[in-house]
Amino acid sequence: MIIAANFKTNHTRKSTKEYIETLDKYVSSLKNDDSVLVFPPSTALDKFNLTENISIGVQNAYPVEKGSFTGEIGLEQIEEFKIDTTLIGHSERRHVLGESQDEVREKYTFFKSKGFQIVYCIGEPKEVREQGIEAVMAYNFSQLEGIDLEYENLIIAYEPVWAIGTGLTASNEQIEETLALLKNKIKSPILYGGSVKVANTKEILEIKNCDGILVGTASWDVDAFCQMIEIADNI
Ligand code: PGA
Repeated sequence: MIIAANFKTNHTRKSTKEYIETLDKYVSSLKNDDSVLVFPPSTALDKFNLTENISIGVQNAYPVEKGSFTGEIGLEQIEEFKIDTTLIGHSERRHVLGESQDEVREKYTFFKSKGFQIVYCIGEPKEVREQGIEAVMAYNFSQLEGIDLEYENLIIAYEPVWAIGTGLTASNEQIEETLALLKNKIKSPILYGGSVKVANTKEILEIKNCDGILVGTASWDVDAFCQMIEIADNI
């Protein structure tokens, strides 16, 4: 299973270091082969000495080696820390920061060409969910336009926008139906994200076709995140 923590705009350099040390100690003590991903803010990136199954990734990067793109980081800044994992297409980047499908696709193509492990996020807003499953799938597939689904280092994260950071989780039936329809087209692992917390981790991870979770809010506390890893370990 894949258990991922997205810090978003939370944690400092200091608290990230403490978090990662605690997490590493915990994960090293398990005998599992789950894959743990952590996406800290870019100011907290560093070379961490970690057990094999933990990877650090960036939440966002500009699809260039380096250049004049004020406020962005590129490959040169990421490679300094030997990082080769990135999130692409997170709903906050699409819907809050206005990233278009063209921009998302450009990032995907660039980081794929560099061999990155990519957690590629898709998910429908509330008004689309209310129109029913056909609209939901059309929306989600439109967010996969131009994305090479055969890429071996691709992980998909299905995160309904209306469930992110809201405390509202999609029902198990909604998750199961959506994941099954995605799996018809996608061979890559698929994560669920959207208000995942310790209390619902087990039931979500037990849903058919669910290969892991992408956790925001509840992952910011290292003890809670370790509990989620423990639950995955016991499934
Ligand atoms: P949440 O965020 O767990 O706070 O809903 C999930 C995400 O945005 O990846």
